[in-house]
Amino acid sequence: MTQSRRVIKAVIPAAGLGTRFLPATKAMPKEMLPVVDQPAIQYVVAEASKAGLTDVLMITGRSKRALEDHFDRVPFLEATLEAKGDTEKLRRIQEATELGEIHYIRQRDPKGLGHAVLCAKQHVGDEAFAVLLGDDLIDERDELLSIMIDVQEKTGGSVIALMEVEPSQISAYGCADVSSVDGEDYVKVNGLVEKPAVEDAPSNLAVIGRYVLHPRVFDVLEETKPGRGDEIQLTDALETLAAAEGPGSGVHAVVFRGRRYDTGDKLSYLQAVISLASERDDIGPALMPWLKEFVAGR
Ligand code: G1P
Repeated sequence: MTQSRRVIKAVIPAAGLGTRFLPATKAMPKEMLPVVDQPAIQYVVAEASKAGLTDVLMITGRSKRALEDHFDRVPFLEATLEAKGDTEKLRRIQEATELGEIHYIRQRDPKGLGHAVLCAKQHVGDEAFAVLLGDDLIDERDELLSIMIDVQEKTGGSVIALMEVEPSQISAYGCADVSSVDGEDYVKVNGLVEKPAVEDAPSNLAVIGRYVLHPRVFDVLEETKPGRGDEIQLTDALETLAAAEGPGSGVHAVVFRGRRYDTGDKLSYLQAVISLASERDDIGPALMPWLKEFVAGR
């Protein structure tokens, strides 16, 4: 095992149909929905790049070509902006192409998140790797992924990220049963359950969309039967690894207390756009007084 080597590969599942945003996503991938002026997926790739993950594999599907185009250069557009002397816009469009080396593979059958991660097996090989889910945006001012990579290197198994949620919301997430680890600020995962009913949830700690996984997860995924929603669940594979023994077994978790934005459904997407826009120097000062007046007038 090449456990001494720092994690450098990121896998970003982006094959979902985006049915929650129809008709906007009829001909456009949901990952391309703008969050202020940048597609949601670019925040995620930028986060990976910032954590030193320079090799990104996107798991895509049909109608996802816009993703490849977005991370590619557009010489004509660059030349036009250069000729106009619009260096700021030029810089902004070049940002997306400078985030690292991006590879694409298609998930031919939509068999769930676990199956999407399994599609990365050959590309990842025998190294620990990160998985970032595109619906979750982590504020760039708050550190998470690099802490998870450190914990993975220390513990040698797999690492997930958890966040406290209102008990009424736990059924939208994977949920973890954890215990503390002496002298450490990460916790040990004893068990996991995908989207439990509130009365069956072992805690109010929700799995959020960042993982640093030991490659043994691929062997487990190959054996994992369809679970909730008749899909192969990553949560179920991690539950198996948490109880397993030997190299690559064990799951630990970092409990994240920073800012997370969810772009996965309409309401939380709008909240993400407003939160991020309100903090932007170019938009916030005009947006906030308008927003206050708008709310006061309701
Ligand atoms: C997936 C995972 C779930 C996790 C969630 C985080 O669910 O299966 O365990 O809590 O991402 O966003 P999804 O939201 O894709 O249904």
